[in-house]
Amino acid sequence: MSAVRTDLQIDLPVIADGAALWRIARDSKVLDLNSSYSYLLWCRDFAATSAVARDTDGTPVGFVTGYIRPDRPGTLLIWQVAVDADHQGRGLATALLDGLARRVGAERGLTTLETTITPGNTASERLFTSFAERHGATVEREVLFDAGLFPSDLHDPEVLYRIGPLSWPSELPEFPDFAG
Ligand SMILES: CC(C)(COP(=O)(O)OP(=O)(O)OC[C@H]1O[C@@H](n2cnc3c(N)ncnc32)[C@H](O)[C@@H]1OP(=O)(O)O)[C@@H](O)C(=O)NCCC(=O)NCCS
Repeated sequence: MSAVRTDLQIDLPVIADGAALWRIARDSKVLDLNSSYSYLLWCRDFAATSAVARDTDGTPVGFVTGYIRPDRPGTLLIWQVAVDADHQGRGLATALLDGLARRVGAERGLTTLETTITPGNTASERLFTSFAERHGATVEREVLFDAGLFPSDLHDPEVLYRIGPLSWPSELPEFPDFAG
Protein backbone atom coordinates (compact mmCIF):
# COMPACT_ATOMS: atom_id res chain seq x y z
CA MET A 1 0.00 0.00 0.00
CA SER A 2 2.54 2.64 1.05
CA ALA A 3 6.17 2.88 2.03
CA VAL A 4 6.81 4.59 5.37
CA ARG A 5 10.55 3.99 5.56
CA THR A 6 12.97 2.18 3.35
CA ASP A 7 12.73 -0.95 5.48
CA LEU A 8 9.07 -0.87 6.52
CA GLN A 9 5.82 -0.81 4.60
CA ILE A 10 2.28 -0.10 5.75
CA ASP A 11 -0.24 -2.47 4.26
CA LEU A 12 -3.71 -3.96 4.62
CA PRO A 13 -3.77 -7.01 6.89
CA VAL A 14 -4.54 -10.43 5.42
CA ILE A 15 -5.68 -13.59 7.20
CA ALA A 16 -2.12 -14.97 7.20
CA ASP A 17 -1.10 -12.00 9.42
CA GLY A 18 -3.49 -13.00 12.22
CA ALA A 19 -0.98 -15.13 14.14
CA ALA A 20 1.68 -12.40 14.00
CA LEU A 21 -0.78 -9.81 15.31
CA TRP A 22 -1.63 -12.15 18.17
CA ARG A 23 2.11 -12.55 18.96
CA ILE A 24 2.73 -8.78 18.89
CA ALA A 25 -0.24 -8.22 21.22
CA ARG A 26 1.00 -11.00 23.54
CA ASP A 27 4.56 -9.67 23.61
CA SER A 28 3.38 -6.11 24.38
CA LYS A 29 2.51 -7.35 27.89
CA VAL A 30 0.19 -4.35 28.04
CA LEU A 31 -2.71 -5.15 25.75
CA ASP A 32 -5.55 -7.47 26.63
CA LEU A 33 -4.60 -10.62 24.73
CA ASN A 34 -7.62 -11.91 22.85
CA SER A 35 -7.90 -15.37 21.32
CA SER A 36 -5.76 -16.14 18.27
CA TYR A 37 -9.05 -16.88 16.53
CA SER A 38 -10.21 -13.28 17.05
CA TYR A 39 -7.09 -11.86 15.30
CA LEU A 40 -7.63 -14.20 12.33
CA LEU A 41 -11.27 -13.17 12.14
CA TRP A 42 -10.31 -9.49 12.44
CA CYS A 43 -7.88 -9.80 9.53
CA ARG A 44 -10.66 -11.31 7.44
CA ASP A 45 -13.59 -9.09 8.35
CA PHE A 46 -12.08 -5.75 9.44
CA ALA A 47 -9.02 -5.46 7.18
CA ALA A 48 -10.48 -2.33 5.55
CA THR A 49 -10.39 -0.51 8.89
CA SER A 50 -7.04 -1.90 10.05
CA ALA A 51 -3.38 -1.68 9.00
CA VAL A 52 -0.10 -3.55 9.50
CA ALA A 53 3.52 -2.44 9.19
CA ARG A 54 5.75 -5.06 7.55
CA ASP A 55 9.51 -5.50 7.57
CA THR A 56 11.46 -6.42 4.46
CA ASP A 57 10.40 -10.07 4.82
CA GLY A 58 6.75 -9.07 4.92
CA THR A 59 6.51 -9.98 8.60
CA PRO A 60 4.20 -7.69 10.62
CA VAL A 61 6.09 -5.60 13.21
CA GLY A 62 3.17 -3.39 14.21
CA PHE A 63 -0.53 -3.07 13.69
CA VAL A 64 -3.61 -1.01 14.31
CA THR A 65 -7.05 -2.61 14.34
CA GLY A 66 -10.34 -0.73 14.17
CA TYR A 67 -13.93 -0.83 13.10
CA ILE A 68 -16.66 1.58 12.12
CA ARG A 69 -19.23 1.77 14.89
CA PRO A 70 -22.42 0.23 13.49
CA ASP A 71 -24.70 2.94 14.93
CA ARG A 72 -22.27 5.80 14.17
CA PRO A 73 -20.97 5.44 10.62
CA GLY A 74 -18.72 8.51 10.96
CA THR A 75 -16.83 7.05 13.91
CA LEU A 76 -13.78 4.80 13.66
CA LEU A 77 -13.09 2.96 16.90
CA ILE A 78 -9.47 1.93 17.29
CA TRP A 79 -9.45 -1.44 19.06
CA GLN A 80 -5.72 -2.11 19.50
CA VAL A 81 -2.39 -0.54 18.47
CA ALA A 82 0.92 -2.26 19.09
CA VAL A 83 4.47 -2.05 17.80
CA ASP A 84 7.24 -4.61 18.37
CA ALA A 85 9.64 -3.43 21.10
CA ASP A 86 12.50 -3.27 18.55
CA HIS A 87 10.60 -0.73 16.47
CA GLN A 88 9.06 1.47 19.17
CA GLY A 89 9.77 5.16 19.63
CA ARG A 90 10.41 5.86 15.93
CA GLY A 91 7.02 7.10 14.83
CA LEU A 92 5.66 3.79 13.56
CA ALA A 93 2.41 3.84 15.57
CA THR A 94 1.92 7.45 14.46
CA ALA A 95 2.36 6.42 10.82
CA LEU A 96 -0.03 3.49 11.22
CA LEU A 97 -2.70 5.63 12.86
CA ASP A 98 -2.38 8.54 10.43
CA GLY A 99 -2.34 6.21 7.43
CA LEU A 100 -5.42 4.35 8.59
CA ALA A 101 -7.33 7.51 9.48
CA ARG A 102 -6.51 9.03 6.12
CA ARG A 103 -7.60 5.90 4.22
CA VAL A 104 -10.84 5.41 6.15
CA GLY A 105 -11.46 9.14 6.35
CA ALA A 106 -11.29 9.58 2.62
CA GLU A 107 -13.39 6.50 1.88
CA ARG A 108 -16.09 6.95 4.50
CA GLY A 109 -16.16 10.60 5.55
CA LEU A 110 -14.84 9.98 9.02
CA THR A 111 -15.67 12.71 11.56
CA THR A 112 -14.64 11.08 14.83
CA LEU A 113 -11.98 8.69 16.07
CA GLU A 114 -12.43 6.84 19.35
CA THR A 115 -10.25 4.59 21.44
CA THR A 116 -10.00 3.49 25.03
CA ILE A 117 -6.87 3.81 27.13
CA THR A 118 -6.11 2.49 30.59
CA PRO A 119 -4.84 5.19 32.98
CA GLY A 120 -1.04 5.38 33.05
CA ASN A 121 -0.41 4.17 29.48
CA THR A 122 1.62 7.28 28.66
CA ALA A 123 2.75 6.17 25.19
CA SER A 124 -0.83 5.51 24.14
CA GLU A 125 -2.05 8.78 25.65
CA ARG A 126 0.64 10.68 23.70
CA LEU A 127 -0.12 8.79 20.49
CA PHE A 128 -3.78 9.80 20.49
CA THR A 129 -3.34 13.28 21.97
CA SER A 130 -0.75 14.06 19.27
CA PHE A 131 -3.10 12.72 16.62
CA ALA A 132 -5.77 15.17 17.81
CA GLU A 133 -3.27 18.06 17.84
CA ARG A 134 -2.14 17.33 14.26
CA HIS A 135 -5.76 17.38 13.12
CA GLY A 136 -6.71 20.48 15.10
CA ALA A 137 -9.31 18.34 16.86
CA THR A 138 -10.34 18.23 20.50
CA VAL A 139 -10.19 15.23 22.84
CA GLU A 140 -13.09 14.37 25.14
CA ARG A 141 -12.30 11.86 27.88
CA GLU A 142 -14.72 9.85 30.00
CA VAL A 143 -14.66 6.47 31.68
CA LEU A 144 -16.34 4.02 29.31
CA PHE A 145 -15.91 0.77 31.23
CA ASP A 146 -15.34 1.09 34.95
CA ALA A 147 -13.14 -1.56 36.58
CA GLY A 148 -16.18 -3.11 38.24
CA LEU A 149 -17.67 -4.08 34.88
CA PHE A 150 -14.87 -6.56 34.20
CA PRO A 151 -15.11 -10.13 35.48
CA SER A 152 -11.62 -9.93 37.01
CA ASP A 153 -10.72 -7.54 39.83
CA LEU A 154 -7.37 -7.02 38.11
CA HIS A 155 -8.63 -5.00 35.13
CA ASP A 156 -8.10 -1.24 35.06
CA PRO A 157 -10.89 1.09 33.91
CA GLU A 158 -10.98 1.87 30.19
CA VAL A 159 -11.13 5.60 29.48
CA LEU A 160 -12.78 6.60 26.23
CA TYR A 161 -10.93 9.19 24.11
CA ARG A 162 -13.27 10.78 21.56
CA ILE A 163 -11.35 12.85 19.00
CA GLY A 164 -13.04 15.23 16.61
CA PRO A 165 -14.21 16.86 14.53
CA LEU A 166 -12.08 15.42 11.73
CA SER A 167 -12.40 16.52 8.13
CA TRP A 168 -11.03 15.23 4.83
CA PRO A 169 -8.92 15.64 2.84
CA SER A 170 -6.55 16.19 5.71
CA GLU A 171 -3.62 18.58 5.54
CA LEU A 172 -1.35 15.89 7.01
CA PRO A 173 1.77 15.03 5.04
CA GLU A 174 1.40 11.72 3.23
CA PHE A 175 4.00 10.04 5.42
CA PRO A 176 4.91 11.42 8.86
CA ASP A 177 8.60 11.90 9.62
CA PHE A 178 10.42 9.23 11.55
CA ALA A 179 12.79 10.07 14.36
CA GLY A 180 14.90 6.99 13.77
C1 LIG B 1 1.73 2.66 22.26
C2 LIG B 1 2.68 2.17 21.14
C3 LIG B 1 1.85 1.49 20.07
C4 LIG B 1 3.42 3.40 20.56
O1 LIG B 1 4.19 2.93 19.46
P1 LIG B 1 5.43 3.77 18.89
O2 LIG B 1 5.67 3.37 17.48
O3 LIG B 1 6.58 3.64 19.83
O4 LIG B 1 4.84 5.26 18.95
P2 LIG B 1 5.41 6.56 18.21
O5 LIG B 1 6.90 6.44 18.08
O6 LIG B 1 4.62 6.78 16.99
O7 LIG B 1 5.12 7.70 19.28
C5 LIG B 1 3.81 8.21 19.46
C6 LIG B 1 3.83 9.21 20.61
O8 LIG B 1 4.01 8.51 21.86
C7 LIG B 1 5.18 8.98 22.52
N1 LIG B 1 5.79 7.81 23.15
C8 LIG B 1 6.17 6.67 22.55
N2 LIG B 1 6.65 5.80 23.46
C9 LIG B 1 6.57 6.44 24.66
C10 LIG B 1 6.91 6.08 25.98
N3 LIG B 1 7.42 4.87 26.28
N4 LIG B 1 6.67 6.98 26.98
C11 LIG B 1 6.14 8.19 26.70
N5 LIG B 1 5.79 8.59 25.44
C12 LIG B 1 6.02 7.72 24.44
C13 LIG B 1 6.04 9.57 21.43
O9 LIG B 1 6.93 10.54 21.94
C14 LIG B 1 5.00 10.19 20.54
O10 LIG B 1 4.52 11.38 21.12
P3 LIG B 1 4.59 12.78 20.34
O11 LIG B 1 3.76 12.58 19.09
O12 LIG B 1 4.00 13.75 21.28
O13 LIG B 1 6.05 13.00 20.01
C15 LIG B 1 3.75 1.20 21.71
O14 LIG B 1 4.38 1.81 22.83
C16 LIG B 1 3.20 -0.14 22.13
O15 LIG B 1 3.09 -1.06 21.32
N6 LIG B 1 2.83 -0.27 23.42
C17 LIG B 1 2.26 -1.52 23.93
C18 LIG B 1 0.81 -1.69 23.46
C19 LIG B 1 -0.09 -0.51 23.85
O16 LIG B 1 -0.02 0.02 24.96
N7 LIG B 1 -0.97 -0.09 22.91
C20 LIG B 1 -1.87 1.03 23.11
C21 LIG B 1 -3.17 0.65 23.72
S1 LIG B 1 -4.29 -0.06 22.52
